[in-house]
Amino acid sequence: MSIASYSYPRKILFGSGASLNLSGELPSGAKVLVVAGTTVAKSPSGRKVLETIAPATCTVYTGVPPEPPLETVDELLAIGRKYMVNTVVAVGGGSVIDAAKAAAALIPVEGRTADYFFGRLHLQRKGLFFAALPTTAGTGAEITNNAVLTDRESRIKQSLRHPSMVADAAVVDPDLTLSCPRELTAFSGLDAFVQAFESFTSPRASALTRALAAEAVRKIFHSLEEAWKEPENIRARTEMAEASMLSGMAFSQTGLGAVHGLAHPVGSLLGVPHGLACAILMRPVLEFNLPVCSEQYADLADRTFIGSDARSFLRAAGDLAEKLEVPENLRSFALHRSDFEFIIKNCRSASMKQNPREMTDRDVEAILEKML
Ligand SMILES: [Fe+2]
Repeated sequence: MSIASYSYPRKILFGSGASLNLSGELPSGAKVLVVAGTTVAKSPSGRKVLETIAPATCTVYTGVPPEPPLETVDELLAIGRKYMVNTVVAVGGGSVIDAAKAAAALIPVEGRTADYFFGRLHLQRKGLFFAALPTTAGTGAEITNNAVLTDRESRIKQSLRHPSMVADAAVVDPDLTLSCPRELTAFSGLDAFVQAFESFTSPRASALTRALAAEAVRKIFHSLEEAWKEPENIRARTEMAEASMLSGMAFSQTGLGAVHGLAHPVGSLLGVPHGLACAILMRPVLEFNLPVCSEQYADLADRTFIGSDARSFLRAAGDLAEKLEVPENLRSFALHRSDFEFIIKNCRSASMKQNPREMTDRDVEAILEKML
């Protein structure tokens, strides 16, 4: 039997109001660079969080773009080094957390972001103290040890990863998700959904990660539509925040699958936001994996009380995407056959390599044909 090893943030706080305890989690003598999402920085709950750590804050950075480019992290490095900060706090969605996580790792070392992104330099040790407070229920970035970044020039989107990049404190407060816009609620929620089922069917899944992933899927089936329809519904927001955290706790240990393998080049080439790319690609990949995953899909259907066979899981996933108005293809993002080569070449990430069914270049092409 192989030995399972699990790695999580040193401290995870979960619950309504948890973000107001943030200052108690920071190291003494903290000099903080805050990286905040623009929407949350203006929201009442976001402002309260920033106020609680104001005495330790050197500077607040807002304006991380979606799919954060290397230049944004370079800007954060320059600011962090100028103010000689020893702590980075991220309050935002996946992009904000990823950019801040990379900055926390790279501020104390030499070089620029591209040096590490392209493997010219390697991280050797733990960076600055890092706390992550998600404001969307979806990416799980507050739990993972990687930051997904994009090189604008080559359009390559990939992870900067190191075991020491796991947050020192993950503070998951559903109150912070109340200001999350409707569309983002849907797409980030579906991202959490995909992450959970890709973790469940991963060859590296264990009893622990399957329990976490199945509970995430169950909560999403029962709460995402409600959170999307009623943004102020704190019960649904709490369920989704917990589902996203559980999904992160599952996939951060097992890795993902072909939806994520394909979503990265599709997202960077066509400018499709990550959650939406995953939501669109989910249905054809579920169908593709069905011949080798029917037992796991049936198990997931059973554990989440939506049926007893694999088809019922696929049907429920498809219904959820439809209710949330996810497009069936990439037509509105102007996918062309001439894009296939780039996507095929750049989809061979760790996620794709561990998809439960091997996906050849021809298989990828067949899936993309359906997306035209
Ligand atoms: Fe994702």
